[in-house]
Amino acid sequence: MFLTNEEQQMCDGEFGETIRKSMDILVALGDIYGASKLVDITSAQVSGVSYKTIGDAGLEYLEDLARDGSGKATINASLNPPGTDLDNWEALGFPKDFAIKQNQIVDAYANLGISKTCTCTPYLVGNVPRFRDHVSWSESSAVAYVNSVIGARTNREGGPAALAAAIVGKTPLYGFHLDQNRKANLVVNVNCELKGADFGALGYIIGKVVGGGVPYFKLQNTPNNNDLKTLGAALASSGSVALYHIDNVTPEFDKADEAEVEDIMFVSDKQIQETRQNLSTTDKQPDLICLGCPHASLEEIKQVASILKGKTIKNKLWICTSVSVKATADRMGYTETIEKAGGNVVCDTCMVVAPIEEMGFEVIGVNSAKAANYVPSMCGLDVVYNDVENLIQFE
Ligand code: F3S
Repeated sequence: MFLTNEEQQMCDGEFGETIRKSMDILVALGDIYGASKLVDITSAQVSGVSYKTIGDAGLEYLEDLARDGSGKATINASLNPPGTDLDNWEALGFPKDFAIKQNQIVDAYANLGISKTCTCTPYLVGNVPRFRDHVSWSESSAVAYVNSVIGARTNREGGPAALAAAIVGKTPLYGFHLDQNRKANLVVNVNCELKGADFGALGYIIGKVVGGGVPYFKLQNTPNNNDLKTLGAALASSGSVALYHIDNVTPEFDKADEAEVEDIMFVSDKQIQETRQNLSTTDKQPDLICLGCPHASLEEIKQVASILKGKTIKNKLWICTSVSVKATADRMGYTETIEKAGGNVVCDTCMVVAPIEEMGFEVIGVNSAKAANYVPSMCGLDVVYNDVENLIQFE
């Protein structure tokens, strides 16, 4: 991979150890994937934050990287969800030892200049690249959204690569950064109208078929932004989709070049309904309903508040979101309505990266196909997959 003089000096340690180690990662990646050079980025989103997933070894790596204080993120860089609500972990019943380690991890990232945004929907809270910007994002649903809905360009980066890119301000130029890799290779004709959890079911079906390919959807009705984040999260969890197009909806849909795509498939209402059922692992009632995968938008919190207004719920309820979105939900009175009904608006974390298996829950109700896919494997718990209205039980 071609390096400028300045980049070579970074590799040689002339800008300090943090930058040298970061360049090691980027150059190795570029060489593996045949990148021609590094390209400037405007934004990063860094995963690998929960103590549950990175443990003590991850914390040591971060503290070591920050040790000489020579490198910090040079562009808008935000952090993925950690394993706790950073401020309210005690009241919500998170284990103390876990919470202490978790805060150390987030502080180590902050020392490297990564903001404590702590969300997988950074595009809702100020980390919003422009169309065609090169970026380095790593949480899979966020990658699908920023590539597909915003039209910025990233590969599905690992956490360390996105962190290295944030510090150097560059990433290797290959894969989804290049026009030729952004064309569709599967046309998906959906034969029914979709709403709510149907979008997750569709993403789950197609992710399994297309793997790391680029699907181009022809839908019967127009999805909103919440539907798009649900769809992308599901595509990225049953498959490894980083980019999708929707006819007349996403900004690069004309790249689909339908005439050139050989693979075409059809999805029926029957398949959607069967997939919805198959995503549940039990018929039992959930003892915890967990919404907000990907992290909830203000509109989604408003919708839940309107369902709960003046009622009392039987099951526990978490709506996971960022601290910034919750601040507005607080002002709008949505949080108070939800809390009066017996639920919680939980910041920072989510049902997959939190240690919910240590908190006495057995069956988790979710409206996200990604969460339904990961809760059994990551937490060892049963899931029920349905729309919000059907998950909540009232006294
Ligand atoms: Fe986000 Fe957690 Fe889902 S990181 S996409 S809420 S699994």
